[in-house]
Amino acid sequence: MRLMNKKLTEAEFLEERKEVLKAWPTGSDEDLALDRAVEYLKNLPEHKNFAITLNKAKLNNDTLIQPRAGVPVLSEHIKLLKYLEESGADFLPCTIDSYTRQNRYIEAQKGLEESESLKRALLNGFPAVNHGVQNCKKVCEAVNRPLEARHGTPDARLLSEIIHAAGWTSNEGGGISYNIPYAKSIPLEVSIRNWQYVDRLVGYYEERGVKINREPFGPLTGTLVPPSISNTIMIIEALLAAEQGVKNITVGYGMGGNLIQDVAAVHALFDQTLEYLEHYNYQNMEVSTVFHQWMGGFPADEAEAMALISYSSSVAALSKATKLITKSTHESVGIPTMEANGLGVKASKFIVNMLKDQNISESADLDLEMQQIKKEVSCLIDVVLKVGEGDLAVGTVRAFEQGLLDIPFAPSKYNAGKVFPARDNEGRIRILDFGNLAMTDDIKAFHYDKIKARADTEGREVSFQLTVDDIYSVSKGKLIGRPLKN
Ligand code: 5AD
Repeated sequence: MRLMNKKLTEAEFLEERKEVLKAWPTGSDEDLALDRAVEYLKNLPEHKNFAITLNKAKLNNDTLIQPRAGVPVLSEHIKLLKYLEESGADFLPCTIDSYTRQNRYIEAQKGLEESESLKRALLNGFPAVNHGVQNCKKVCEAVNRPLEARHGTPDARLLSEIIHAAGWTSNEGGGISYNIPYAKSIPLEVSIRNWQYVDRLVGYYEERGVKINREPFGPLTGTLVPPSISNTIMIIEALLAAEQGVKNITVGYGMGGNLIQDVAAVHALFDQTLEYLEHYNYQNMEVSTVFHQWMGGFPADEAEAMALISYSSSVAALSKATKLITKSTHESVGIPTMEANGLGVKASKFIVNMLKDQNISESADLDLEMQQIKKEVSCLIDVVLKVGEGDLAVGTVRAFEQGLLDIPFAPSKYNAGKVFPARDNEGRIRILDFGNLAMTDDIKAFHYDKIKARADTEGREVSFQLTVDDIYSVSKGKLIGRPLKN
């Protein structure tokens, strides 16, 4: 079938669903029958519903806390989530292992069984497809917070079926954000089409009065991503999701490091997501934002890592993001212990509470930065629609093919990889090499001038060396990768 941004009919969805459920034996569970799943979800208490809890937080001006966490063995995973709940997590995650993310269920099964017998985690997350609806329900019933699957899966159709039927009321990802930064050789038209199915499933539930939250993955590669690029991807994924019937969307942003630019980016993201949804006449949409603590390289020193976590939390609170995704002091080493993960949650919550009633005042600087981001986002989305001859899904595929949309440092061969960012004199992320990114000459001039001013300050040429220095600088304790003075 040809890809287009059009809601799948219920008949198309149900026809495809038969094939999706055959991909692994747990897909034959009778609790996957949609009427049963709707019934189960309708009977969940409100405090376990992700969308309802987010809506309340927005009204209250709260920034709620969510860690990442997932281990293979069911009893251990439940123990971990309970511990994080006690540490103050408002939302709970189930981070899915890498085999499941690549639909390699046979290897996931082996990893799960060995983890159970050796009493040691041999997978880097919770293999929800292998566990099936029954075990996933046990997770839902053991905790008192809403649950979300967090992964990185280009084809998450079966995974999404299982988690939602088990009462997990949020799913992270999208056709671009869970492909380009995560996979090497999966065509974009394939992942976008798969995520239309995932969103259509949510649409099916919404039509029956069940609220499910969807969260496109904002940080992308987590490395010096210019806000206008990630915001553009978020808005495209929000629009594609809305077309399939998604109503409750949390658009994401990964911290860049400059306070004003980060606050401006979250404000711009929220405003423009609403504007575009309204423009295309999607009704009754509920939009919230999520801020990701620093996603780049972390300092190995635990005190420094905790300082970075705390700074990230301050920016998140001041940006008024609805949700904050936390890190731990073990980030530079690998998957955190339960205790280290809990400390990240506690420290983050403390800062967010301190800043709850404080605001960053409007200023010319903040406003200019916000206008700049919005201008760049409109410019990119206009081009996507133009090359797609009005169709957003087709336009996205073509724009990536031509490098008109391009995500820095992504592994996918369907991404041009010609864009190189660098920081300016205040550490704001600008674009040093645009490749074929579809920006106007005046936008390019703005970025060049900012980067040139920084290079002049450092007495060096504008070159790729700035990019390299900036990639490593935060892990070494400086925002901007300036050369050492002798
Ligand atoms: N448990 C906890 N955190 C995890 N991450 C990935 N897998 C897990 C897991 N199983 C976190 C790491 C990584 C980020 C993208 O997700 O912090 O940097």
